[in-house]
Amino acid sequence: MRRERLRRDPVLYEVYLRSFADSNGDGIGDLAGLTSRLDHLVDLGVDGLWLTPVFRSPQFDFGYDVSDYLDIHVEYGSMPDMDALIDAAHTRGLAVILDVIIGHTSIEHFWFREHPDRYIWADQIPNNWLSVFGGSAWRHDEEAGRYYYHRFYPEQPNLNWGNPEVRRAVHEILGFWTGRGVDGFRLDSLDGIAVDPGLQDEPLADPSALRGRERDPWAQYWSLQHVHTCNLPQVLTELKEIATAFPDAALVVEADLPNEQLLPYMRLADCSFAFDFIRAPLDGVALARVIDGAGLAGRGNLAWALSNHDQPRMVSRWGRDLAGVAAVLLLSLPGWSFIYQGDEIGMVDGPGGPDLRDRSGRDAVRHPMQWNRSGGFTTGTPWLPFIDPEVCNVEDQRGAAGSTLEQYRTLIRLRRELRGPVRIVAAEPGFLAFRRGGHTISLNLGDEDHELGPGQLVYMTGRVEPGRLGPRSAVVQVADPDSTGGQPSER
Ligand code: BGC
Repeated sequence: MRRERLRRDPVLYEVYLRSFADSNGDGIGDLAGLTSRLDHLVDLGVDGLWLTPVFRSPQFDFGYDVSDYLDIHVEYGSMPDMDALIDAAHTRGLAVILDVIIGHTSIEHFWFREHPDRYIWADQIPNNWLSVFGGSAWRHDEEAGRYYYHRFYPEQPNLNWGNPEVRRAVHEILGFWTGRGVDGFRLDSLDGIAVDPGLQDEPLADPSALRGRERDPWAQYWSLQHVHTCNLPQVLTELKEIATAFPDAALVVEADLPNEQLLPYMRLADCSFAFDFIRAPLDGVALARVIDGAGLAGRGNLAWALSNHDQPRMVSRWGRDLAGVAAVLLLSLPGWSFIYQGDEIGMVDGPGGPDLRDRSGRDAVRHPMQWNRSGGFTTGTPWLPFIDPEVCNVEDQRGAAGSTLEQYRTLIRLRRELRGPVRIVAAEPGFLAFRRGGHTISLNLGDEDHELGPGQLVYMTGRVEPGRLGPRSAVVQVADPDSTGGQPSER
C-alpha cells in the first residue's frame, strides 16, 4: 500500500501540527485544520506528510511526551478526526507517516507507576550522563525514592528496552496504528532507545565534536561522547524487529549521528535523516563532503532536510536571498527530501512569543503557518504569534511567477525527471555542482559570478547569462545537443 504512495525519491512535508491550521479557534493547530488544508500539499506535489505527535500528552515537550499512544491529544481533536485525516490524505494519494516516540514516554503514562520495570532506575546518580536539553539525565522520583534516566526533559523518562515487555508493548502500539491505515513511522530519537546496562560514565568528546553546533541550544550535551547511551548494537536489533514485524510500514529513522554511521540504519529502514546536512555550513566544499562524503547518497535513502521543528530555519541560517538555491539543493538530491512547513514560502525564524513555551528555546521555529495576509491559521489568538504574514504567505505566493512557493512546485515536478545517484563535479567554498544522470545542478552560493558550463537550462533561480551564473543563483541543465560536445562541462 505505502509503496504505491511513496514513489522513488519521495518528497515529504513535515506538518508541525500545533502550528499548521486551527479549525476551532482555540489558537492551536489540530487534525481537522490539517485535513482542511491538505490540498496545499497536493498543489505542492509532495508524496506525503510526516505528522508530528498526535497522541494524548501533557505537552511538556509538545507531544513528544506521550501519556497514551492509543488516544488523540484533546487539543488536536479525536480519533474520528484522525481517521478522517488518514482517509482524506489517502484519497488525495498522500502517505501519512506518523511520528512515534519509542525511547521514552511521558511521566504521566500509567506505565511509569504501574510498570516501573519498563523504565531505567538507580538508587544514586550513577554516572555523568547528560540530558540532551541540559543537566544531568537523572532525576529523583520522590514516590519511588530512586532516580530515573531521562534523555530529554525530566518529564520524559526513558523506557528500558532491556525489558522484553517494552518491545511487546511498543509493537502493539505500532500495530494499532498500521491497523488504522498509517503508511509508516518516523522513529523519534531511535539511536537513543538502548543504553549500557552497566551504566558506565561517558567519555569527554573532542572539542571538534562541537563544530557546526555553535548555534545548537544543546551544546552541553555534545561535550560527551554518547557511547553508552546512543547507537548501541541493540538499537539495530530492535529496528530489525520492527522492520520484520511491519514489512509494509515505511520506516523513517531519526538518529542524530554522523553520516558515516548511518549505513546500518539505512539498510534496515526506508531512510535515515542526514543531520550533517541540516548543520552543514554554507560552503560548497563542506556540502559536497556531507552529500556524498560517505558514499551513502548513492543508495537513495538518505533523508534530507534543511529545517525542522527543532532546528533554525534554513532561510534564517542561509539568508533569504539563498532560499531559491537551498530549494534547488534540497529537491534535487536522490533519496527522501523533507520540506518543513513554511519553508516553501520562505518563512524565517520568529522571536518566539511573550512567554517561553519550549524550555529549550525552539519556539522561534514553530510560529504558525502563514496562509494569508492576516495569518489565516486561526480565528482566535495563535498560541505563538505570527511573524510576518503581510509579506510572506501562501495566498499571495500561489500562482505568482518567481515566488518561493512556485519555485518549490516546479522543482518537485522536475525532481521526477532526475535519475541516478549524485556525482559531485565541482566543489569550491562558494560553488557546488553535481550530476544526476543527464542533469547537472549548479549552485552559486557566493557573492561573485561563477563560470557555467554549456547545457540546456531546465530550471533557474537568480541570474543566469550565457556561460555565467550570478551570485546566489542556481540552475538545472541537461546536455544540450546543439552545443559543442553536447554535454554540460564537468569542472
Ligand atoms: C524531536 C524533538 C523532541 C525529542 C524528544 C526529537 O528528536 O524531534 O522535538 O524534543 O525528540 O522526543
